[in-house]
Amino acid sequence: MKKRWLIVATVFCGLLFYTAFAPSRGHSLRAQSPSSGAQSPAPAVHALDDGLVLTPPMGWYPWNIFGEEPQNEKLIKEIVDALVSSGLKEAGYAFVGPDEGICFYRQADGRLTTNLERYPSGLRGLGDYIHKKGLKYALYTDAGTRTCSTAMPGTKGHEFVDMRQFAEWRADYIKIDWCNTEGQDIVKTYTTLHDAQHAAGRPVVHSLCSWGEGYPWRWAAAVGHLWRTTADICGPGQADWARAMRMAYANEKLAAFAGPGHWNDPDMMIAGMPGVSETQDRSFFSLWCLMAAPLIAGNDLRSMSKATIETLTNLEAIGIDQDPLGIQGRIIWTDGTISLWAEKPLFDGSQAVLVFNQGRHPVEKRVAWPELGVDAAAVCYVRNLWTHETAGPLAEGVTVSVAPDDVALLRVSTKGDFPLPPIIVADSYLVALRTTDKAPQKLSGEITITNKGSAELPLWKVGEGLPAWLSVTVAKNGKSQTFANTISTAGLKKGLYHAVVRADNTEPVSGKPMSALYYDVDLEVTQGVRGQSK
Ligand code: GLA
Repeated sequence: MKKRWLIVATVFCGLLFYTAFAPSRGHSLRAQSPSSGAQSPAPAVHALDDGLVLTPPMGWYPWNIFGEEPQNEKLIKEIVDALVSSGLKEAGYAFVGPDEGICFYRQADGRLTTNLERYPSGLRGLGDYIHKKGLKYALYTDAGTRTCSTAMPGTKGHEFVDMRQFAEWRADYIKIDWCNTEGQDIVKTYTTLHDAQHAAGRPVVHSLCSWGEGYPWRWAAAVGHLWRTTADICGPGQADWARAMRMAYANEKLAAFAGPGHWNDPDMMIAGMPGVSETQDRSFFSLWCLMAAPLIAGNDLRSMSKATIETLTNLEAIGIDQDPLGIQGRIIWTDGTISLWAEKPLFDGSQAVLVFNQGRHPVEKRVAWPELGVDAAAVCYVRNLWTHETAGPLAEGVTVSVAPDDVALLRVSTKGDFPLPPIIVADSYLVALRTTDKAPQKLSGEITITNKGSAELPLWKVGEGLPAWLSVTVAKNGKSQTFANTISTAGLKKGLYHAVVRADNTEPVSGKPMSALYYDVDLEVTQGVRGQSK
């Protein structure tokens, strides 16, 4: 993969007052000075090289609802199936897998090995299951000696061998926690882990989880793709609304540090969990979308209410989160009860606006165009992303009514149409073929990628460097594109062959690069094949 380091312009921002909330299970969170991140130049962003998560990652992680128990293969597969059948997959959710919950041990030879009692298909088997469903595989580990529960080994001193193992298991996303790291230098540690991931050769989303410790927003874009900005949003099993709102406000202050491929992560979502009302679900989801936060669901997908599904799959709201410009919105006005969130320009020239009512009574809030940086004389259209209604043309501004705990999530545009940005869904991320024949053959397998957004995308461009036995062509059929993978077995020796295919694309309205698409191709050759390999 070509290395191209992009130095982002120096960003100066006002003094940040980051509030460190004590994490739930007593991991040490040393006090930070309030000058965190102030006047820090934004670091080099490596993510544009690998093209990973140029819009915030979407998926599901077990911790919020299940904690360590009862995580096992059966549960994760049930969740994967529910992710597909509920419609979440079709709305863009892709990364899924176990968090802490003893899925691996360290063997005497230092290598990690699957806990086969809990994961009888092996962690690679689980990964294949997930990939075949058109989803991406997420795993969890820790940068210290043990994971937070101390039940699983951490990576300290084993960084390179562990990252190789995760690559062998075919992980696409690794969350790396910061428990049991006494005496470790945080920047050096996560840099080593990044180097180890790079050396392992598999493109992987690196999710740093130090709960804001070490001010990751100041440096982590060079070594990862997202970093937790706050402590855990809740203890397993029960959401905590007040706590979640503190996380939102702490994360909001860090808007300047987020962008394509490098995201502030205010933690997994609590929408749909016990302890949150339908209104709060909607408000929470809107805040996470406005902040371009990773949309990692944390509820039990097997037993969601219709309302939760509707909230989590609202494509108009998701479009705000998945906007190709990747700008994190922020608060531009508040009286302590009502807040106005904006400064989130979108790919088509429109902008996202949110009015949040944390009071006990319904309110009417006027939003005047100049507050949004729009000329007072302009005439705009306003799309309500929850009622799915458009008002306009409106002169001067718009007035919204907002119930307690509720939000108005809006898109404001001088045009009357509100296109959705690309939201990518795959039928599979794994092509697995096998030959038992001595005579040369052409084998083929297809992968279809569909855009749930408004536009037909240009043709995906397949990256260079495919092995000689594999060729890939792409054909377009409206919003779907099919990757035809042709394998020529001539001259291949007995063995297992593997390739990772990368494809790139550009969002046509903004001209911004889209997240690179990666999928795996496996070939098993059971006996040597005659002929000359290409
Ligand atoms: C930490 C993380 C959580 C979860 C647990 C697992 O608390 O912040 O998100 O991964 O560890 O032990």
